[in-house]
Amino acid sequence: METTEANERPKILGGCMKTRNVQALAADHNTLPADILERYIRPEMAVDDVLLENNSEEIPVIDMSRLMDEVSRDEEASKLKFACEDWGFFQLVNHGVPEKVIDELKEDLMRFYDLPLEKREEVAQLPGDLEGYGQAFIASEEQKLDWADMLYLFTQPPHFRNYKHWPSQPPSFRDSLENYSNATQKVAHCIMGFMATILGIKRETISEIHGSQTVRINYYPPCANGHDKMIGLSPHSDGCGLTLLLQVNPVPGLQIKRNGKWLPIMPLPGALVVNIGDALEILTNGRYKSIEHRAVINAKEERISIAALHSPSFEKTVGPLADIVGKGTPLFKSVTMPEYVKLFVSKKKIYGKKMIELLKLNP
Ligand code: OGA
Ligand code: NI
Repeated sequence: METTEANERPKILGGCMKTRNVQALAADHNTLPADILERYIRPEMAVDDVLLENNSEEIPVIDMSRLMDEVSRDEEASKLKFACEDWGFFQLVNHGVPEKVIDELKEDLMRFYDLPLEKREEVAQLPGDLEGYGQAFIASEEQKLDWADMLYLFTQPPHFRNYKHWPSQPPSFRDSLENYSNATQKVAHCIMGFMATILGIKRETISEIHGSQTVRINYYPPCANGHDKMIGLSPHSDGCGLTLLLQVNPVPGLQIKRNGKWLPIMPLPGALVVNIGDALEILTNGRYKSIEHRAVINAKEERISIAALHSPSFEKTVGPLADIVGKGTPLFKSVTMPEYVKLFVSKKKIYGKKMIELLKLNP
């Protein structure tokens, strides 16, 4: 990561190699040469255990309006505590992001993906940079690939935005994304406030650290023959502190690791799926859990999701909070945010698994 002088925009040097646009590949999937398709085939998919959707265990549902209401607050807060400590994932309903804001962004995204490839590639990633339209963390010609395209953008603080990578088509896209970014940032910080209170620390503590927001917009094309052997997004845990995921269309795909198996999650209509990232697991000294998850693809339908990722600001340190560790023992090393990002990117490229293991003390 380095800071560019022009707009002080942090640049994540991921060394991403350019690969094919997956939406375009999917469009003529039946005529694709075998050697290209081969890079998307994942042998491990055949042996992975998936829990069926009618599984008795249900991901917790947290009602934000009940957290805001003094009468129901304590009861809802104890559900939130359980969700963060035991699941690392929950659905958030009545979150207050206006329906209009969500609908406008959804509409503009659909229109963006309807544009011809050359138009979409006007906001393509540049060599070595993660921001823009393309793929994340591709380090070699041999590496297996995910069946998806992503659009990764810095959204907060506003002066970090690099509009070169923000689609100008449809013309309302930028306003829609800005409105969505502002609204989700507010929700994320409100939740962080409740999380801190539950942990017995000052309400602002977690929120103050998390000044940055990026969005990762995922487009998973359908794949008629082979969807069960491919993966949309490889297993990973999020490097940020707190993720708010919006599913744009009602197609299942997200799966989370629960008791050693993959549990499919289908968001309730209008809900945001919230999860704890590695940074928050570290800050809370392991009290809150960052859980591995992945996205599978569908045979017939495309799937689109938007992850709003809230991370510590670049001048902050990622390490167990003194107020939480107290007289106990810190379980993780403390590193500066630039060091943390560097580690995250290198770990992703090498292992594609939980980077947090590298920061564990006395393993
Ligand atoms: C992510 C992510 C899951 C999904 O973008 O980090 O986990 O369902 N997305 O798209
Ligand atoms: Ni994720």
